[in-house]
Amino acid sequence: MNDKTANDRPPAPTLFSWEFAADPYPAYAWLREHAPVHKTALPSGVEAWLVTRYADARQALADQRLSKNPGHHSESAHGKGKVGIPGERGANLMTHLLNIDPPDHTRLRRLVSKAFTPRRVAAFAPRVQELTDQLIDTIVAKQHDPVRGEADLIHEFAFPLPIYAICDMLGVPPEDQDDFREWAGMMLRHPGAQSPDGRRHGGGPRGGVGRSVKKMRGYLAELIHRKREDLGDDLISGLIRASDHGEHLTENEAAAMAFILLFAGFETTVNLIGNGTYALLCNPVQRERLQTALAGGDTALLATGIEELLRYDGPVELATWRFATEPMTLGGQRIAVGEPVLVVLAAADRDPEKFTDPDTLDLGRRDTQHLGYGHGIHYCLGAPLARLEGQTALATLLRRLPDLRLAVDPGDLRWRGGLIMRGLRTLPVEFSTVTVA
Ligand code: HEM
Repeated sequence: MNDKTANDRPPAPTLFSWEFAADPYPAYAWLREHAPVHKTALPSGVEAWLVTRYADARQALADQRLSKNPGHHSESAHGKGKVGIPGERGANLMTHLLNIDPPDHTRLRRLVSKAFTPRRVAAFAPRVQELTDQLIDTIVAKQHDPVRGEADLIHEFAFPLPIYAICDMLGVPPEDQDDFREWAGMMLRHPGAQSPDGRRHGGGPRGGVGRSVKKMRGYLAELIHRKREDLGDDLISGLIRASDHGEHLTENEAAAMAFILLFAGFETTVNLIGNGTYALLCNPVQRERLQTALAGGDTALLATGIEELLRYDGPVELATWRFATEPMTLGGQRIAVGEPVLVVLAAADRDPEKFTDPDTLDLGRRDTQHLGYGHGIHYCLGAPLARLEGQTALATLLRRLPDLRLAVDPGDLRWRGGLIMRGLRTLPVEFSTVTVA
């Protein structure tokens, strides 16, 4: 049932090229059809199994035989050390949620869940709205042309919103937030995994990113130390408090936790806003449908719409690394101990076995059991915050810049070259300044 023989199938697509980065979906359709659990060499040289069908993907995400601990990566797979966040080893960051298994994962996740609650996120809604409005105010204020406005929505909107939001939530003082913006910008410019074609960019991005990771991690450790003396209402104080109720989060664990909240919640949300806006601009009927609903005060379509945008072109193309801890069979394929498994969320979420007309964007879609936030014990902890930011960003953008349109041909847009994340480098748009409220 798997990897059909070579002569009864069309030629295999080239994975990880720049063309693939621009539109990976035809290649994923081929894999789903012909080689749904497929071993391939990644641009870094590491060999990994790609899982592309929805049913297999869901099973793999919840399979406890697949460990998140990179220590299980087989010695024979010559890419050891290339499978995590750059700089994480040096920055003492190895014990974060996405790198550990139960029982450690259970303990840490329970503790962070006490501090990072849906209630805390809901209370944060007015602040997210305020930040969103401020960013649009800035875009509007910088326009010189009395008729036609322009902006790069990635750099001026999608990028700053999540970084300022998570800084505020963690309790990073305003005067330090621009440092964060700079470190995060470095991480965004040079994605963690190598680019398509295996090329590296910008004179050793891993080193640059590694330094930014270290600086951020060092700052957070110091901030936690300071907050311990003077607890507030912020999330870092919440993490410290959670450790004071019988169970324990060490200072090191709290710093690693704050960092992973930032790391996991930043680029993902940038790309939810970027990919989501882009999808709406390319699908005018759906965009108008949403605008009409919002103008009438109906927010139900916004809620289903964000889920659909995550399914249709979500920020996390591949789930993070997993390693087989025992010989196992997945989708009819034998996987040996220590072999890495990468679940291709973007492919699973376009599986026609699961979704009707999977390549069509339908903001009112009911079958939205997508895997964009993962599944199982590592299911996205920040999903409520991501939803809040995504919904606020898109609704505000459509309300305040109602005739927003792409300023370039879609073929001229460049996608970031990272293995795990999917997102645009820039999103040049234009709008009529006369309609701006
Ligand atoms: C649209 C935005 C987001 C998307 C699409 C997303 C997606 C994901 C996915 C797919 C996973 C599971 C990865 C895997 O199993 O390999 C995950 C885990 C995680 N996410 Fe998100 N995420 C988003 C935003 C956020 C935000 C805003 C935060 C926090 C501020 C966050 C924090 C986390 C954490 C801590 C984990 C690890 C959970 C664990 O291992 O138990 N995410 N996310």
